Amino acid sequence: MADTDGNIDSHDYYIDTPQTAPTFPLKGCQSLDWGMKNRLANIFDPKTGRTVMLAVDHGYFMGPTTGLERIDVTINPLLPYANTLMCTRGILRSTTPPTFNKGIVLRASGGPSILKEMSNEHIAVDMEDALRLNISAVAVQVFIGGEYETQSVNNMTRLVDAGNRYGVPVLGVTAVGKQMVRDAKYMRLATRICAELGCSYVKTYYVEKDFDTVTAACPVPIVIAGGKKLPELDALTMAHNAIQQGAAGVDMGRNIFQSDAPTAMIQAVSKVVHEDMPPKEAFEYFETLKNA
Ligand code: 5RP
Repeated sequence: MADTDGNIDSHDYYIDTPQTAPTFPLKGCQSLDWGMKNRLANIFDPKTGRTVMLAVDHGYFMGPTTGLERIDVTINPLLPYANTLMCTRGILRSTTPPTFNKGIVLRASGGPSILKEMSNEHIAVDMEDALRLNISAVAVQVFIGGEYETQSVNNMTRLVDAGNRYGVPVLGVTAVGKQMVRDAKYMRLATRICAELGCSYVKTYYVEKDFDTVTAACPVPIVIAGGKKLPELDALTMAHNAIQQGAAGVDMGRNIFQSDAPTAMIQAVSKVVHEDMPPKEAFEYFETLKNA
């Protein structure tokens, strides 16, 4: 029998206090179900509504690229500073500590290597296996204008359907073919298609001119890829410009793990993303950490 001694028969129902309805901090995500929002909150810091995703999925088509030869040695020490890790299930199972308790964004498309036509990708992960791995989102490459455009869009919509069944957000990753012009017009087209067809958020590249029109025209959050390695000040400037023009974070790989000081760089990027730190100040912060 339950011990009821000392129970006080008094209740406060806060009759005069309307039940609160907290708003969800991510653009365009208000109508998503609880599970989907909860997963997104593992990716985007609820305090800022922004994210520093550490992208290390390059091996799925590039093999052991510079900086990712030994992910256990070079990447695991960076995990405390990332909001989210973006990787393949192979790396997750073989190398990532299961004690990592932030969001995992799982690379879910693949097929051709750098030796082949890159846009010929298929879905590479079953949603059931993604759920077994307790991931927070799946990522699919979308090749708008590419040779296999329709196939890659079909990969995306199939993952969106599977994700909606289980409450798993899909990140649409816009891949720009070498022959295509990387401008705001293309990015508007590609990101909007991903959002219209159901992605919860979209990754694209930053463009110098009119990037704010890309974020404005996309009804869900945008994160930017880092792209090829730049000098640290330039990479921090790019991240800063993207955030100031409406991006909700970065999904950055090479500009972090190929830096001379990756631990310092990811912390400097985090200051830019979450604290709006100006690039020069963030670069000084990077140098201070690097030389400590
Ligand atoms: C590869 C990817 C990468 O995750 C993405 O490009 C981010 O990495 P980086 O900052 O090195 O460009 O999607 O297809």
